[in-house]
Amino acid sequence: MKIILSGVKPTGIPTLGNYLGALRNFGKFQEKMKDYEFFIFVADLHAITTPQDPLELKQNIRNVAALYLACGLKPENLTLFIQSEVHEHAEMAYIMQALVYMGELERMTQYKDKVLKQTQGVSSALFTYPALMAADILLYDAKFVPVGDDQRQHLELARDLAIRFNNRFGKTFTVPEGLIQEKGARIKDLQDPTKKMDKSTDNDRGCIFLLEPLSQIRKKIKAAVTDSDACVRFDPEQKPGIANLMTIYSVITEKSFGEIEAMYDGKGYGDFKSDLAEIVVKEIAMIQERYHYFVSSQELTTLLDEGRLRAHQLAQKKLKTVYQKMGLGR
Ligand code: AMP
Ligand code: TRP
Repeated sequence: MKIILSGVKPTGIPTLGNYLGALRNFGKFQEKMKDYEFFIFVADLHAITTPQDPLELKQNIRNVAALYLACGLKPENLTLFIQSEVHEHAEMAYIMQALVYMGELERMTQYKDKVLKQTQGVSSALFTYPALMAADILLYDAKFVPVGDDQRQHLELARDLAIRFNNRFGKTFTVPEGLIQEKGARIKDLQDPTKKMDKSTDNDRGCIFLLEPLSQIRKKIKAAVTDSDACVRFDPEQKPGIANLMTIYSVITEKSFGEIEAMYDGKGYGDFKSDLAEIVVKEIAMIQERYHYFVSSQELTTLLDEGRLRAHQLAQKKLKTVYQKMGLGR
């Protein structure tokens, strides 16, 4: 049995970046990789590494679960579950904490960035976050992990920890590989194309949320920061704003940058942005329609119940093996 695994944190509403870098790909990989089982979960334990309101968290967990299906995941070959409902994740995370070095965690760029932004106290869980992520992956011997570019370093650490454990205690874990799409893996903020588009932004105008009103999405795209050159050309260095919009265009329509440049040759940014706004709105309208169906459906509840059982079965077995290999217990 071969497993592909990924997760999304239920901290707020997922963004167009989450969709293009991760959510959208899950369904696509499912179509291509039919002999794999897909383990996709809501990473709620990861969410509490920064303060969360309990009622909002509960709602966001259901939202992310529904959005997985709305964005194209199919129930066949799918184990859909909620991280905290499979208690082995927290236990395996502790094992990974015993394995990882302080220096390795200190090097994580996401941690360094978040610490700079956080005004209140920084929790120790924010620091050990990559150990929990390694636990998520290694518990199921996942072969592939589809994520956006910002998770590359965490994934590399999960690989190192798998190798370290195998060397110390004998072959136990599959060494996972990232599946990072070349295009769309790092969608940028529409107001500041040097930053990634992120749910926890202080300027909502730069971020498109999958569940926001379509009219607002249109406005945000039309107001996206560009340059004064007025030529639709892919040049991430000189023209980061336009390059980002072209990336969004290209991933959704599956047109190459060359094709898009040719289509808008001699036209200004106005036409390009209007067309892009309609393309994005059409895509998100479809997602929202499916989301409204799934979010209150019994189908989703049943899938999550079944997913919890299946995930727990595998996780329990793996954790037992790990404890044995390490000499824990009697
Ligand atoms: P998160 O919301 O941090 O749990 O991220 C969920 C998934 O979306 C991960 O695979 C991220 O790598 C991916 N992701 C987050 N932000 C972006 C972005 N701006 N562009 C592309 N992928 C992203
Ligand atoms: N850390 C990931 C993020 O912030 C979410 C995540 C948690 C994840 N555990 C995972 C992704 C395991 C892939 C595999 O985006």
